Amino acid sequence: MALSPQWLDELRMRTTLSAVIGRTVRLTKAGREFKACCPFHNEKTPSFYVNDEKGFYHCFGCEAHGDAIRWLTDQRGMPFMDAVKELAAEAGMEVPAPDPQAAKRAEKRASLHDVTAAAQDWFEANLRSADGAAARAYLSRRGFSDKTMREFGFGYAPQNRQASKAALSRFDQQMLIEAGMRIEVEGKDPYDRFRARLMLPIHDARGRVIAFGGRILDSESNPNAPKYLNSPDTPLFDKGRTLYNLHRAAPAARQTGRIIVVEGYMDAIALANAGIAEAVAPLGTALTENQIELLWRQVERPILCFDGDNAGQRAAMRAIERALPMLRPGHSLSIVRLPAGMDPDDLIRERGVSAIEEMLSSPASLLDTLWEFEKAAAPLNSPEEKAGLKARLMDHVEAIAHPDIRALYKRELSQRFSDFAFPPRPQREFKPRGEWKKGGFKAVSPQLSADAERRLKHAIEGGSRDTLASAVIHGMLRHPGEIARHEAALARVAQSDRNVGSAIDSLLAAAETLDSHAQSPISLPEGLPAPPANIRFAFLDEGTDPVDACEELAEAVSLLVERPALEAALAAATARFESDPEGAFVEQQQLLKRKLEFEARLGQMASRKAASATAKDSDAAQDPEPGSGASTD
Ligand code: UTP
Ligand code: MN
Repeated sequence: MALSPQWLDELRMRTTLSAVIGRTVRLTKAGREFKACCPFHNEKTPSFYVNDEKGFYHCFGCEAHGDAIRWLTDQRGMPFMDAVKELAAEAGMEVPAPDPQAAKRAEKRASLHDVTAAAQDWFEANLRSADGAAARAYLSRRGFSDKTMREFGFGYAPQNRQASKAALSRFDQQMLIEAGMRIEVEGKDPYDRFRARLMLPIHDARGRVIAFGGRILDSESNPNAPKYLNSPDTPLFDKGRTLYNLHRAAPAARQTGRIIVVEGYMDAIALANAGIAEAVAPLGTALTENQIELLWRQVERPILCFDGDNAGQRAAMRAIERALPMLRPGHSLSIVRLPAGMDPDDLIRERGVSAIEEMLSSPASLLDTLWEFEKAAAPLNSPEEKAGLKARLMDHVEAIAHPDIRALYKRELSQRFSDFAFPPRPQREFKPRGEWKKGGFKAVSPQLSADAERRLKHAIEGGSRDTLASAVIHGMLRHPGEIARHEAALARVAQSDRNVGSAIDSLLAAAETLDSHAQSPISLPEGLPAPPANIRFAFLDEGTDPVDACEELAEAVSLLVERPALEAALAAATARFESDPEGAFVEQQQLLKRKLEFEARLGQMASRKAASATAKDSDAAQDPEPGSGASTD
């Protein structure tokens, strides 16, 4: 029967385990799981847990563990195929028809397993023999305990190019080639892939040997040989679907609730040697989607523990970029950044296991890592460079498929960007305006001086063709407490955009005469032009909750500030076309994309408002008379 791992995964995904188990065992809800007295052993207090999200059950008492299929075979005594058929019928899936070719492939895999298992025995025997003396010396130099060496199955591959052919002569040569043990080059005699190397078996999730990694013993005398050599992909071994040490790390992760991803297999071994059993490593490639899924089946937030140097950080970023489209509620990655140039193995040797435990106890979030990485990725001195940072951040946000997570990332990263690009000026001292009367303090509505009022009116009339700027200025008048917070940003706009510059200058000058915490709207001069009726923002609407209003106002300010920077960055990218056509093109594409987003967001802000304004507050929307929209009482 051709049951591919993918088909079985789909079956498990469509099956609600608690429903299957609930038919014969009484389950009670316990947080996100269900619990019961274990049906596999006798007990009075429940230690049997069923987790629907992960799709497995686990007993902390007797270690019984499995998925829905395993439940039916182990608890109900059904043959494997019957269990699969029953679950498939419930899940509405068709069991694939028997496929003679697939059956043959499965048979071949089974016999390749025999090859890798025999090879593993042979490598281990070599390590114990006289041939293995140098490898044994190397291992003891690295400080691995006997227990670790046995547990991880270290072995040795001899120098001789034909050694495995002789030692594994009960398999035919073609099998040794297919299992990745020997290399066939056209027109030449096949020869052993692994020679004079310390050997490490690589297991699948069920603990069967499927491939090998071989480490060179002394790099000095072989400067050109790769330090590590892995088996090629074979019918047994798919690098992108395998995590080194998962079969030992998964049960350990269930105990501790964490799983750690390190860059090299020696790091996973060094951690185990120091008592941290729940570490896995990819096999010399970037983390794949499949590997991230494998990790998420163990815990919700696997910890990536990568070197703090550039290469390590780029590797962490590649993993993050893979994970972004896959993020779903509750699931993420945490990141531990090790001191530059150190891997976990070095760190444990130099500072002890407590140093790494401490770092593992406070990993950075995915979002923090994204922010720090992009902030450090390029200089940020000019507005163009800053706009580049925003474009990069928003590209990451767009990669997130889950709408809620995307919206939350967008909000948080935009906020961090604004706080960084437009830091608030130091706040002026708070002096409430008003006077003490018998009944207590009476605040007065802030008033502009006659001169400020005249200048403001003049300036806004001049700048009123720019709807966004005009809306922001009106927004500030309505929420004067926000002026101080956005002072730096506004000053920057005033500098770069002459059209609205004088209006903003007047606004800031006017604000000087107010206290910075003023909450009541500034009474407006008579006859001040209203923001155009076709573009009305929530922050101009009296009905809007003040917190929402201020937030949307902040977004409008950041759009206002970003606009000239974006234009300048585009112009700069265009100018660079001659000297750096490819780089300029990529950057221009990114910036154009950001500009489209910018406009879409602006349109959204305004049209959403326009629509709701016509619906609920139609007289204001229809009233074209200048001044009436903006005047307050
Ligand atoms: P490292 O070079 O960081 O090795 O490669 P390491 O884990 O620290 O090993 P030691 O401590 O020097 O023994 C990290 C991983 O990259 C892959 C291997 O999977 C390795 O574990 N790699 C590295 C290769 O596949 N080939 C190489 O030549 C080097
Ligand atoms: Mn190392």
